[in-house]
Amino acid sequence: MNVLLLGSGGREHALAYAVSKSYKLAKLFIAPGNAGMISLGEIVLLDIGNHEEIIRFCRNKEIDLVVIGPEAPLVEGLVDDLSKAEIRAFGPTKGAAQLEGSKGFTKDICREYDIPTAAYGRFNKEDEAKNYIKQQGCPIVVKADGLAAGKGVIIAMNEEEALNAVEKCFQGGFGQAGQEVVIEEFLEGEEASFFALSDGKNILPLASAQDHKRVGEGDKGPNTGGMGAYSPAPIMDEKTTNEVIEKIIKPTIKAMNDKGHPYQGVLFAGLMITKDGPKLIEHNCRFGDPECQVLMMRLKSDLLDLLNACVNGTLDEVSASWSEKPALTVVMASKGYPSSYQKNTPIDLENVENDKTVEIFHAGTTIVDGKLVATGGRVLNVTAEGDNVRQAQEKAYEVISKIKWENGFYRKDIGWRAL
Ligand code: AMP
Ligand code: GLY
Repeated sequence: MNVLLLGSGGREHALAYAVSKSYKLAKLFIAPGNAGMISLGEIVLLDIGNHEEIIRFCRNKEIDLVVIGPEAPLVEGLVDDLSKAEIRAFGPTKGAAQLEGSKGFTKDICREYDIPTAAYGRFNKEDEAKNYIKQQGCPIVVKADGLAAGKGVIIAMNEEEALNAVEKCFQGGFGQAGQEVVIEEFLEGEEASFFALSDGKNILPLASAQDHKRVGEGDKGPNTGGMGAYSPAPIMDEKTTNEVIEKIIKPTIKAMNDKGHPYQGVLFAGLMITKDGPKLIEHNCRFGDPECQVLMMRLKSDLLDLLNACVNGTLDEVSASWSEKPALTVVMASKGYPSSYQKNTPIDLENVENDKTVEIFHAGTTIVDGKLVATGGRVLNVTAEGDNVRQAQEKAYEVISKIKWENGFYRKDIGWRAL
């Protein structure tokens, strides 16, 4: 098979790593990719926003499957346009990607299908949103409805913060995403992520993971895309996992069918495990980043077999097997992230030894004059497997100690909850 993989983050590097091991693969093309992916496939310059250009490329290169990493092209309907051109693609259509593209859409499905989630209201008028906050009291969570690159969620501990957040949304602080606001009950518990594939009818549960969203140790400081993760999440025991599948994943897939948007792709449920059981915080329509890195480290099955079954509607004919060993990834980011940071700072990986149980997945890297430099906020994902989380953690940090990158930083406590 010829495969085109779209994206440039650590998630896509991990997907490329798994796809490149497939016995089905003939040739892998990656757009736009990063420096770490050069050895896994041919890097091509394509504008992901230009669907016509992608279709032309797929026809020229006889692409059998397009794998789409990030959410934006899915929400913008890339899969719909590829299907019209009879090009197979892994990922949900625009209608199905509303599960991530509109928080209000997902909350309404939860209400209709009795999916456990935080109580909420949807508002497109500022005064009504503010009245709701005054009625409900604090803490309370204010969310811009649309995609806001992970920044559109404000956990308000007092009324003033909540009212300010509403004003920020309606004054365009989150662009189009904040034209509508979802306000919801503050959930207490431990967060976990769960991933499942769906072909529209069948589901194939994958695995769980836990992310570290805050930039600083002890989960302090601003939210980021994720500073580290491990899989599996110890809190996702068999009972909780079954509850998530039966009460959250299956009803969501049924709802999408009922609404005429059968869901094909990976469904990433962001969960709060509360004292009353698991509740859905949000659905994402793609793999998590950095959760994908630890999932791909643990996946023993052929990823292309699974993605193909998803696209063909034959997910009931395949199964996924996982290494018993946990995996852990530590994100190295440019100093300053998630705010502004310096670009093109040099990274030296020369002292890192080859070890089959460790992979360095790249995110914001490129090659300038033959040398590796950092171009992004999140830059490297040092990912290790171990007999237990502690061993995986030790290995990851040992490799990090050999990486020379003056402008880089990382959290030193990834995995703390599992230890
Ligand atoms: P989201 O973008 O919806 O994943 O929200 C980002 C983060 O905000 C989540 O990972 C949680 O840590 C937190 N969060 C979102 N909704 C709630 C909620 N209802 N209660 C408590 N925390 C929440
Ligand atoms: N790491 C969280 C996400 O990918 O949304």
